[in-house]
Amino acid sequence: MVDIYRFDIDTAPYADLARVHDLCFTESWDEDTFEAMLTVYGTFGIALKIDQALQGFVLYRQPFDDTEILTICVHPNAEKKGNGSLLVQHMLQHLKKPGKCFLEVSPKNIDAVKLYEKFKFTTMNTRKDYYEKGLDAYVMMREI
Ligand SMILES: CC(C)(COP(=O)(O)OP(=O)(O)OC[C@H]1O[C@@H](n2cnc3c(N)ncnc32)[C@H](O)[C@@H]1OP(=O)(O)O)[C@@H](O)C(=O)NCCC(=O)NCCS
Repeated sequence: MVDIYRFDIDTAPYADLARVHDLCFTESWDEDTFEAMLTVYGTFGIALKIDQALQGFVLYRQPFDDTEILTICVHPNAEKKGNGSLLVQHMLQHLKKPGKCFLEVSPKNIDAVKLYEKFKFTTMNTRKDYYEKGLDAYVMMREI
């Protein structure tokens, strides 16, 4: 059974967030990092569980009208099945309108860029050496 729900600082599944994030990124965030991020005003997440196990989540911040996507990830075993799309779709439904939604992504992260383009995000500019020397970031945006 698929369960998608919004969480905040009080309801976040911290251990699961840290575990799935660790499987998806080389730089992992621990439970304290997630808690610190969720203490910032306007920060929420969308969790996707399948049969009660966390398979992915998106963390975003909308303090006023504009939104920043802080991170999104899907468990490697659950990728390319539409789960990332479900997360973005649900997040967009929860955002207050009107405003703009921004994110940063490596141009080398083809799967992520494709996912954002599918949801009408466009590249506004490139931040040179953003992640490290030789690794730029696209700044992508869409109206909400
Ligand atoms: C980027 C990421 C979140 C995408 O998640 P995902 O669950 O694979 O996303 P989706 O399945 O919705 O879409 C990806 C592709 O999978 C394929 N796909 C989607 N549903 C499918 C299905 N039912 N059957 C077969 N293939 C499918 C499609 O090719 C799709 O691309 P398309 O929408 O352009 O056709 C995931 O790859 C990830 O966690 N990456 C590591 C962390 C990361 O880099 N995060 C982004 C940081 S900016």
